[in-house]
Amino acid sequence: MAVVDEMGAFRRTHYCADVSEGDVGAEIVVCGFVQRVRNIGNLLFIDLRDRTGILQLTFDEETPESVFKKAETVRSEFVLMAKGPLKERIAINEELSTGRVELFVNELKVLSKAATTPFEIKDGVNAREELRLKYRYLDLRRKELTDSLIFRNEVTYLVHDYFKKNDFLEIETPILIKSTPEGARDYLVPSRVHQGRFFALPQSPQLYKQLLMVAGFDRYIQIAKCFRDEDLRADRQPEFTQVDLEMSFVDESDVMAVNEGFVAQLFEKMLGIKLERPFARLTYKEAMERFGVDKPDTRFGLELIDLVGGLKQTEFMVFKNAIKAGGCVKAINVKGASAELSRKEIDKLVEFVKTYGAKGLAYTRLFDVETSSYEKFLTEEEKQHVRERVGAVDGDIILIVADENPKVVFDALGNLRVHLGSKLGLTKKGSYDVLWVTEFPLLEFDEEEKRYVAMHHPFTAPNPEDIDLLEFDPSKVRARAYDLVINGTEVGGGSIRISDLELQKRMFSLLGMSEEEAESKFGFLLEAFSFGVPPHGGMAYGLDRLVMLMLGKSSIRDVIAFPKVQNSSELMSSCPSEVDKKSLDELKISVNTEGET
Ligand code: AMO
Ligand code: AMP
Repeated sequence: MAVVDEMGAFRRTHYCADVSEGDVGAEIVVCGFVQRVRNIGNLLFIDLRDRTGILQLTFDEETPESVFKKAETVRSEFVLMAKGPLKERIAINEELSTGRVELFVNELKVLSKAATTPFEIKDGVNAREELRLKYRYLDLRRKELTDSLIFRNEVTYLVHDYFKKNDFLEIETPILIKSTPEGARDYLVPSRVHQGRFFALPQSPQLYKQLLMVAGFDRYIQIAKCFRDEDLRADRQPEFTQVDLEMSFVDESDVMAVNEGFVAQLFEKMLGIKLERPFARLTYKEAMERFGVDKPDTRFGLELIDLVGGLKQTEFMVFKNAIKAGGCVKAINVKGASAELSRKEIDKLVEFVKTYGAKGLAYTRLFDVETSSYEKFLTEEEKQHVRERVGAVDGDIILIVADENPKVVFDALGNLRVHLGSKLGLTKKGSYDVLWVTEFPLLEFDEEEKRYVAMHHPFTAPNPEDIDLLEFDPSKVRARAYDLVINGTEVGGGSIRISDLELQKRMFSLLGMSEEEAESKFGFLLEAFSFGVPPHGGMAYGLDRLVMLMLGKSSIRDVIAFPKVQNSSELMSSCPSEVDKKSLDELKISVNTEGET
């Protein structure tokens, strides 16, 4: 490629979209990338794009000949600097914010040429996602992505601002820390100096922020990178960002109040939406019973209705077996959907619930008995019971899942509900449903590990009313934990912590840790508590998820500059990658590829 121009003494006076009719007459300098060139003989137009938007550069018969000639060499994505007077445009373009003005160029610098890009830089581009991720820096030139990251920047600015005004201190916590996996797997980093030993990347700054409370900082906030080696989904990345905070001398109501203030301010300033406060609250139990999930989207009905009451004597084996085993029979009434959901569509729903472990989905399309899959097995009273219980009228569809394991029923119907909500268009785009879910169980039994694991984390305090149940009926103990849920996504979560040394030890023991193990993993925390610890609690938001929801995006990849793909790799730089032998030797690491496919 030929040599390109230098900037010399040229400097930008305006961003492209920051010019307006008020600047008409001024000599301005803009710089950016070429969106497109239109050459119609003695008139040439270049749409110049920078992060703010597009400005039209115009070249006509009055343009110095050398400048016009140079403009004719320009192609898409070339990097330019252009100078000249801003003039009012005759052919107004209402679609552009700068559509009433244009820059008549009298000096032009081509600062970089550009090869043909693998896909066109425009919104609504339909290139494969892998290709766009490989050339992420090109994809980021698109307005949609640029705007998302600019929006994200505003959100982080408001985080700093709001929490500073509420007396929080921003304090950084380490990235190389001790490995104490609970929940997800740790990313490990080998130590060269201490061979055979490893650091872990933090899954969250949890322990450090609690130690900052022991240290007396009282209120801490950090926008923190977190790392979790777990399977990815649309709302999960192996590295993601938390808005992480902790407060001393507080209980749940204090943490929630500060955070409601933050979320309300964020929505008001960023989206112009006034959220009603206090936010709605649901206990975990109620959320599960009514919605089947612990992060319900309550913008629409389709609530789960328990049918067991009137079916206790039923001879229909599917229901009978479930009830006998202490399981569940629950229904959803899809109001007025008979016309929208054909028999074939219902068959698809049957397959859908099976992916959540349900053995089947019984249905009735009202009032055509022919299209009920189970009513023929019920007595007349039982049939009436079901219909009355769900309030069915002509045109409705009743969907039922029965199972010996209540979790399967919750899971299947909870997810079916969300699926139907979106399929039937029951959620309005741009509407927000913000609520707290409280009183989570402290522990859940892990079938694989055959032990109790903490539902939130091992530092979450049990509800004082339930402490006596800790050793007798652990699954009944409620935690002082709360999640913030927006439109059916868990955006944040936190808890009041255990600040009693003995209780913390009891908790470790309930989780199957011996005293020695607890000491070697968390001895530093226990020791810290022995020197005086204020009551404390906090929470963390998934910043990526929060921004995704506020922007109405469907994946957190859309709000992260350089995201990873499903298999946790990054396509642009191709990592993870092999490292050279010397680096491995220094770490005394040998790679065992045996058994690899
Ligand atoms: P928790 O594990 O619930 O709590 O995480 C807090 C929030 O972080 C977000 N999040 C994620 N976002 C993207 N990708 C992921 N892989 C991912 N994992 C979690 C979620 C979640 O609500 N230390 C505690 C907080 C506390 O108790 O203060 C913690 O990390 O939005
Ligand atoms: P069967 O007697 O197995 O043919 O089942 C009768 C109807 O009950 C069929 O429509 C099945 O889809 C439905 N069904 C089967 N298992 C379940 C279940 N676990 N929950 C709800 N409905 C079921």
